[in-house]
Amino acid sequence: MKIFHLSMECYPVAKVGGLADVVGALPKYQNQMGLDASVIMPWYNKPFFYNHDFEVVFDGFIHQSFNMYQVQVFKEKSNVLGFDLYLVKIPGLLDRESVYGYWDESQQFIAFQHGVLHWLSAMQIRPDVFHCHDYHTGLVPFMIDNCYEFSYLKGVKTIGTIHNGEYQGSMDWKMSSFLPHFDGWKSGILDWNGRINPMAAMIKSCNAFNAVSGGYLQELFYSFQGLEPLMDQERQKAFGIINGIDMEVWDPEKDEMLKFNYNKDYAEEGKWENKRVICAEYGLNPNLPLFGFIGRFAGEKGADLLPEIVERSIQETNGALNIIVLGSGNQDIENKLKELQYKFNVNFAIDLGYKEYLSHQIYASADFLLMPSRVEPCGLNQMYSMRYGTVPIVRYTGGLRDTVQDISSGGSGLNFTNAGAEDAVHAIKRALHIYSQKNLMKGLIYNNMSFDFSWEKSAKNYENLYNY
Ligand code: ADP
Ligand code: GLC
Repeated sequence: MKIFHLSMECYPVAKVGGLADVVGALPKYQNQMGLDASVIMPWYNKPFFYNHDFEVVFDGFIHQSFNMYQVQVFKEKSNVLGFDLYLVKIPGLLDRESVYGYWDESQQFIAFQHGVLHWLSAMQIRPDVFHCHDYHTGLVPFMIDNCYEFSYLKGVKTIGTIHNGEYQGSMDWKMSSFLPHFDGWKSGILDWNGRINPMAAMIKSCNAFNAVSGGYLQELFYSFQGLEPLMDQERQKAFGIINGIDMEVWDPEKDEMLKFNYNKDYAEEGKWENKRVICAEYGLNPNLPLFGFIGRFAGEKGADLLPEIVERSIQETNGALNIIVLGSGNQDIENKLKELQYKFNVNFAIDLGYKEYLSHQIYASADFLLMPSRVEPCGLNQMYSMRYGTVPIVRYTGGLRDTVQDISSGGSGLNFTNAGAEDAVHAIKRALHIYSQKNLMKGLIYNNMSFDFSWEKSAKNYENLYNY
């Protein structure tokens, strides 16, 4: 079975968040299972392209509105990632530094989808499945059904995966001039509330779709930024499939980004050595329990709660803990955290940036990882932290609910219900109590490191979805 994953991100080529991790791992596991999975993504001006050998496999043109754009497709030559990787370059649109954030991104995403389908139609390459990740590639099912230009691809199965329903790519109808030609009477499929909505179009047109956890799928029926009625209409083809993690990339025993490697039998020593290094670097006392937060400073992640959580947990425990935060985003949150670092420099450290190696080091050295998310479709951080022997403290929502049960019911971490500082601080105090019981903590670390979060099971579920 030949599968093309279409995505804006793929680790290690270009990563903003968990989407990259999923698209960088799932196809590799699918190929190990005997499927034939590849990734097609935009070309970015990033080191991966210059550090690897590529060949041009297609060079052509597409028309968007009144403009003509060159489309070049580069294929990575050595299969270094465990799957074939294709990068689509469209000079003027898809040839930039960053993945997101450009004023013309709707046009960029349309061009990517158009460019891919044009290339495959022209070269008569027909996969069995297009696996579309998030709304950025959500117009593909509509395009292959309704655009004459791609009639060669008509009938190819299309699967949509919702990694984040908060973003739907809604755009004004005047953008329709950028779409490849289709019959006007089909417009209703693209429409939601008087605008073109690629997420809605994906749900309507694909053969089947899934959310990245069963818990999140259930939430979408009552909280989906206006698409709730559509969920009801399309419920027969909606599924929940939890993400796995790449057990090779995320392996504390072999991870080259760590200062000290360890496995579950030497977790106490290994984590301590890593913690000593990081605490020395950030001026923290390694003898105190270390709480970490890694993530985008966005409302979904509950990052706006961090300032109050930091302040109250340090004050209310008389400085009995350390907190380290790695992330960036909302300026207001960044400023508040900077002020707190100044005020509580003995107990609190921040690193405002995107640093892959530091994230690994925090997973390895922290005792607890904090995830006060308001919305968490799956969440990978909690799984990485467990793999590295760090106890997750999560708000009970979406994928966090499916992966972290509370220790009071025999689970692997701590849950709290309300997305507020009050509940989070209460959970932190519970964590301190657990931390003080050395044997309990030791058992928890050992059990968490023994969990199998690998992709095999979920990859099998995706195969079933492809056959749906
Ligand atoms: P999301 O995709 O919503 O941001 P996930 O939990 O699925 O959340 O995945 C986040 C991924 O991004 C993880 O691999 C996490 O380690 C990584 N990450 C988030 N913020 C940073 C950062 N500032 N530096 C390094 N890695 C980060
Ligand atoms: C999104 C979600 C996150 C999920 C990731 C990978 O970014 O916010 O919860 O883990 O996609 O599916």
